[in-house]
Amino acid sequence: MTTLPTLAVTGSTGALGGRVARELAGRGLPQRLLARTPGRAPELSGAVAVPFSYADRTAAEAALAGVRVLFMVSATESADRVGQHRAFVDAAAAAGVRHLVYTSFVGAAPDCTFTFGRDHYATEQHIRASGMAFTFLRDNFYQDILPGFVGDDGVLRGPAGDGRVAAVARDDVARVAAAVLSDPERHRDATYDLTGPQALTMTEVATIIGQATGRDVRYHDETIDEAYESRRRWPAEDWQYDGWVSTYTAIAAGELAGVSDDVQRLTGRAPMGLTELLAG
Ligand SMILES: NC(=O)c1ccc[n+]([C@@H]2O[C@H](COP(=O)([O-])OP(=O)(O)OC[C@H]3O[C@@H](n4cnc5c(N)ncnc54)[C@H](OP(=O)(O)O)[C@@H]3O)[C@@H](O)[C@H]2O)c1
Repeated sequence: MTTLPTLAVTGSTGALGGRVARELAGRGLPQRLLARTPGRAPELSGAVAVPFSYADRTAAEAALAGVRVLFMVSATESADRVGQHRAFVDAAAAAGVRHLVYTSFVGAAPDCTFTFGRDHYATEQHIRASGMAFTFLRDNFYQDILPGFVGDDGVLRGPAGDGRVAAVARDDVARVAAAVLSDPERHRDATYDLTGPQALTMTEVATIIGQATGRDVRYHDETIDEAYESRRRWPAEDWQYDGWVSTYTAIAAGELAGVSDDVQRLTGRAPMGLTELLAG
């Protein structure tokens, strides 16, 4: 018999999982924070930090003993991300987890343009096959990361053409996650698309960031060759360059333009727009 909370959250040392953990604590829900470095997990009322790793199935299964509902933040991108996800999902099923809530990506498919979105599809498939109930939160790109795409020279560069992106605020994703985790049965085997209130071109994104920061920011529509070339200044492996460049080609292809009302329906609040987020 364990006295640990039966609701578990991964990723609490990070930006999204930390927000989810704080939302849950704010609702008075006890939670088990699974962390690679438990000392870095946030100190919250009702929260207990437990060591684990996605890649270490034995440790994960032990950390999950007695857990019934699990929030799984996708791992940092790596060549072996899907393998780590599969190991963790298998550990969850073996530990008796009943419902897994996973942060996926809009349009996740085996052939989606955003190469990291294919990892999410493979993970979704593995969760479906596990027999556990699931909820997939298919997030668009986070609005929060868009300012970081602007170079020191004030240029937002990438091959996105005139494509649009319905980026979502991490805070809205966290509020949805908390709503789902508070009443998982209502969201059994559901898939939600989490987007902002509108789809913006990269020219519009650059203008909004420029207005919010007081900088001169503009968008430069690169060719695909230019995009690979401009990113070679950061040493990386081919799969990483493919992920970075396909962030933009997926936008160009229209695969991130869909606007959903799921944030509004699930939280009762309209999702934040980029202007509002940057003003905050
Ligand atoms: N939609 C988007 O725009 C977007 C953008 C960036 C990332 N993402 C995806 O969404 C996830 C959450 O985003 P975020 O902004 O919260 O990222 P973040 O701040 O980097 O946090 C990632 C969290 O996941 C944990 N983690 C990563 N790899 C792990 C592994 N192999 N085993 C166990 N824990 C692991 C990290 O733990 P440690 O503290 O131990 O490292 C951290 O708590 C990311 O991991 C990534 O997969 C989505």
